[in-house]
Amino acid sequence: SPSRCYKIATIPGDGIGIELTQSTLQVLNRLASLTNIQLEFGHFDWSSAKYHERGWYMPSDGITQLREYDAVFFGAVGWPDVPDHISLWELILPIRKSMNQYVNVRPTRILPGTVSPLRNCQPGDLDWVIVRENSEGEYAGQGGITHAAPYSIATEVAVFTYPGIERVMRFAFETARSRPKKHLTLVTKSNAQRYGMVLWDSVFYDVAKEYPDVRTDKMLVDAMTVRMTRNPKSLDTIVATNLFGDILSDLAAGLSGSIGIAASSNLDPTRKNPSMFEPISGSAPDIAGQGIANPIGAFWSAAEMIRWVGDGKLDLEADMLMKAIENVTAAGIKTRDLGGECNMLDVTEAICGEMDRIS
Ligand code: NAI
Ligand code: MG
Repeated sequence: SPSRCYKIATIPGDGIGIELTQSTLQVLNRLASLTNIQLEFGHFDWSSAKYHERGWYMPSDGITQLREYDAVFFGAVGWPDVPDHISLWELILPIRKSMNQYVNVRPTRILPGTVSPLRNCQPGDLDWVIVRENSEGEYAGQGGITHAAPYSIATEVAVFTYPGIERVMRFAFETARSRPKKHLTLVTKSNAQRYGMVLWDSVFYDVAKEYPDVRTDKMLVDAMTVRMTRNPKSLDTIVATNLFGDILSDLAAGLSGSIGIAASSNLDPTRKNPSMFEPISGSAPDIAGQGIANPIGAFWSAAEMIRWVGDGKLDLEADMLMKAIENVTAAGIKTRDLGGECNMLDVTEAICGEMDRIS
């Protein structure tokens, strides 16, 4: 039976975001043609290049426009000629905040045929899901700068609320429960930061009571970096604040072989707003326009997007895309960041071909 049609908004943005989005459309169109998924795309040219022309990143009704879609696929935003805090705060952060995308899910695995920089760490030894709080905490956006240099005073206020923590904890416990190890690690810094982080710890243990089947432990963020590098097998699902989740997921990407394979989902678990899916990397000005970026993080994000919009009905299709990705890395078809010699198009075509074969 034909499934309903899913409407996907794409925001390629800047640099490799543009190339990655193009390759992702190619892969999604192939997936749709091989299955009974129907996809319809809307394209939004909101970017740093257009910011110079128009003076804005997103029009004033931008969020309303995005709400017409089932999901958003985002490439990357940022370019050296615009301060990064402007591009981030004019485009990606307003989308996350206005659309209540309060969890950021970042899965990490060592893909078959790829090598971790950690000696003796094989595929299977590193299989994590980082659940990052995505709406408040250290990126709440409250603060200001007063007084002229050299007397300037800046505040950057971290905001932690019980409901804001509780909802991300619940999501993290559900995620941990859905995985075979049923293990959740909390990351805070509740020794040095005695208010917000202490609240995080206490909400974690409150919510844990509802999940007696999930094993828990707790780490201070500094010690966590050591555990991630020394004993990756001892971790499974990880929950962390906005800032710590941001940093640890880049570390996770590095440990799995490349930032180019790292995927993320910005979710509104209430499903009242579209969720947004993006590779975690930035616009990579150093390699942009050369067709050599690794598209796997974008494809993995797209697979998670299909899984999310399907809400249980498109898991097989999402799995098929993931399987094709893993078969292609296993066959050694890899971009340079993974030690291969292929360009983005080679990898994209190989994954399309692999979907043809396994469908
Ligand atoms: P970046 O992620 O763009 O690049 C860091 C390094 O990783 C570079 O050497 C780059 O070549 C490499 N890299 C990134 N993605 C890759 C891929 N798919 N394949 C192979 N290599 C890859 O981070 P950077 O340089 O700190 O930031 C560049 C710009 O991107 C800045 O303007 C920054 O603000 C923005 N940015 C945007 C993000 C977003 O849109 N969500 C996230 C992170 C940064
Ligand atoms: Mg980051």
